[in-house]
Amino acid sequence: MEELQQILEQALKQFADTTDEAELEQVKARYLGKEGSLTVLLKGLGKLSAEQRPAAGARINQVKQGIEAALQQRREDLQNNKLANKLAAESLDVTLPGRGLGTGGLHPVTRTLQRIEQLFHSLGFATASGPEIESDFYNFTALNIPENHPARAMHDTFYIDSQHVLRTHTSPVQIRYMENNQPPLKIISSGRVYRFDSDATHSPMFHQVEGLWVDEEISFSNLKGVVQDFLKRFFEQDDLQVRFRPSFFPFTEPSAEMDMSWNGGWLEIGGCGMVHPNVLKNVNIDSEKYLGFAFGLGVERLAMLRYGVNDLRQFYDSDLRFLKQFN
Ligand code: FA5
Repeated sequence: MEELQQILEQALKQFADTTDEAELEQVKARYLGKEGSLTVLLKGLGKLSAEQRPAAGARINQVKQGIEAALQQRREDLQNNKLANKLAAESLDVTLPGRGLGTGGLHPVTRTLQRIEQLFHSLGFATASGPEIESDFYNFTALNIPENHPARAMHDTFYIDSQHVLRTHTSPVQIRYMENNQPPLKIISSGRVYRFDSDATHSPMFHQVEGLWVDEEISFSNLKGVVQDFLKRFFEQDDLQVRFRPSFFPFTEPSAEMDMSWNGGWLEIGGCGMVHPNVLKNVNIDSEKYLGFAFGLGVERLAMLRYGVNDLRQFYDSDLRFLKQFN
């Protein structure tokens, strides 16, 4: 009887010391397994006298039940501990502050382009487009700039081969559009153009917006009116200073350059003029019946003025500290 009490106490202590279920099963075998101490005692019952047997049997079974109950309790405790540890390790602290996703923004030149297009659309201009790799014919010849004309040298052209260039301006789109459409014509065309050029007001790739309006009674004053109206709306300024300076382009006559005040001086924002009769003839439009005006605006120059940027090359440095200011 004494030995039974010891076995029970020892089993309860050893169960309590286990740290996982596998260990618990091993400890269990010491008492209830085939060679376990309680099993051995049960087997030994036969050696006792008939009077001693019932009391001993009852006591052994009582201890066995005690051990089984403790075993079951420990099993549940270990499982609960395991779950609690797992939950603690995988817990989320929902009180931590959120980490916001950085949002992107449109590039200032894209914004400027969209604004220009929107304003001209509201003035009734449709949109046309043309390729960036352009043939020598569309970029120069059809615009009344024949081979060996000095105006070709003014453009600092990137040649692809003897017949193809990276377009130096958006004016070739005028030709492509007039070849396929009859007046009245009223379009703008924006896009990238390329020149071998780089300083604070020039970059090798930049954007232009070309405008073209051809109809029976178009005059230079219409040109001035449209451009001035556009610029006033673009800069949201009614008393805007715009200067039209007489100039020369082979594809317009008369021609002018447009300047706006900048840094105490003037910044050239575009060229314009009345479409040259030779250009109309090149696309089979009756130059006796129709007149037109055209203009080409430098988009980066307008962006510089609108956003107060002093060096146009900053638009293409990909410096996020600069670009983020336009978000
Ligand atoms: C032209 O490109 C003519 N095609 C414009 C034109 C169209 C005249 C229709 C008449 C009728 P110009 O080379 O001046 O013209 O360029 C026009 C504008 O583009 C300039 O006024 C300037 O604002 C901008 N520009 C020129 N070169 C650069 C450059 N390297 N970087 C940024 N902007 C430039």
